[in-house]
Amino acid sequence: MANQLFDFGLVGLGVMGRNLLLNMADHGFAVIGYNRSPQKVTDLENEIVPGTTIKGTSDLKVMVAALKLPRRITLLVKAGQPVDDMLEELVPLLDKGDIVIDGGNSHYTDTLRRVRYMQEKGFHFMGMGVSGGEEGARRGPSIMPGGDAEAYQHVKPMLEAVSAKVNGEPCVSYMGKGAAGHYVKMVHNGIEYGIMQLISEVYDVLHRGYGFTNDELHEVFKQWNDGELQSFLVEITRDIFLKNDDKTGKRLVDVILDKAGSKGTGKWTSQDAMDLGMSIPTIDIAVSMRNLSALKDERVKAATVYPSEIKIAGVSKEEIVQQARDALFFGIMISYAQGLALLVEASKEYQMEIPLPDVVKIWRGGCIIRSSLLEVFYQAYVKNADLPNILLDSHIAALVKSRTENTRRFIATAAQAGIPVSALAVSLGYFDAYRSAVMPTNLIQAQRDFFGAHTYQRVDEEGIFHSNWQ
Ligand code: 6PG
Repeated sequence: MANQLFDFGLVGLGVMGRNLLLNMADHGFAVIGYNRSPQKVTDLENEIVPGTTIKGTSDLKVMVAALKLPRRITLLVKAGQPVDDMLEELVPLLDKGDIVIDGGNSHYTDTLRRVRYMQEKGFHFMGMGVSGGEEGARRGPSIMPGGDAEAYQHVKPMLEAVSAKVNGEPCVSYMGKGAAGHYVKMVHNGIEYGIMQLISEVYDVLHRGYGFTNDELHEVFKQWNDGELQSFLVEITRDIFLKNDDKTGKRLVDVILDKAGSKGTGKWTSQDAMDLGMSIPTIDIAVSMRNLSALKDERVKAATVYPSEIKIAGVSKEEIVQQARDALFFGIMISYAQGLALLVEASKEYQMEIPLPDVVKIWRGGCIIRSSLLEVFYQAYVKNADLPNILLDSHIAALVKSRTENTRRFIATAAQAGIPVSALAVSLGYFDAYRSAVMPTNLIQAQRDFFGAHTYQRVDEEGIFHSNWQ
């Protein structure tokens, strides 16, 4: 048909959708975007770069009819029911063999359900994680597609073109079968939660504990970002400290209410890790601390019941900055280690065949958790693609070992002062348990057998045993 002119379609012209579409057009693809709201279509049209081929429409039929076959349509709509609603609208308009990609933060079980549903109707459906926020979508995100390998071939050149690049290599790769794309993105976000919580704890000790000004904090984070802690999250934190509030002239960070929001991906990571019997306490506590932060009124009351004076003793400002740097480095390593170990297990359990070397490779650029450490992890997986936990790699072990002393000191200083550093503390606890050949779990087994005849195994003999304890 003569009017089938466009290479790719995109549904949902919110911030992410609009920017991704503009990015595709920059790379020479003819693209058409749909949004029910004409205002969103106008917003898109206002940003069209001369010389690119973009069209916006608020008529879904127009978009579908204008696409080359097989149609390739990306959805960037709110996760949950809106995705299902959109599929219902699309299905009657599609032809067999058309490809629909969900680029939102959908729960992976929803993606599995939708893959089956669309397959039965003769369509290809893929779940794809996209990370990097507004700027990433526009200039190059990290992209995590998974599922239908045949359909992937039809979108691969476009995804490679629009993704971020590291050393000339695109930050996109096939993440595995089923809902692997959304699973990998979910765990990416879990790690993101962990790192953000760790940064906030270090900030708390320096700011509330040691009275660092925002200018001093900017300097500290600048130094860190120029060194081994180089990462997107440390970099934006550095800049946050300098931003002024238009209304009051104060630093914006100081007028922001200490109640964290969330959209669910961190919680889902913890929930799924629990289901799989995997230990990811740094991520769990990050979710938990956001929940605790939401109880602002109760915390204000509790602060009067348990008044405390923050007392820091015996550690100089110079020393605490060094301790903080090492503790943050340590915690971040542990956060990645837990998330990646979860991916290894989930990949086996759900038969996703997730290529771990490719995961860390495409996280090196474009995404929220990009950092210079990803190259270190990539090298570890190049040496051994079957690593169950990156902490077992000898180079990574050396990096972690050299930070443990200062991490212990930093946590001790914070605990003495009464400043919560929960994510750092559980990161250290996880590490100390993981590296311990002996855990006190023998006692737990004894208790279980004592009160419930749950049985136990022995260190000196094969088999299952039960004792009469009384
Ligand atoms: C990304 C981010 C993004 C996520 C936000 C919000 O990779 O670009 O992970 O996808 O939606 O960070 O997450 P919360 O609202 O749950 O903090």
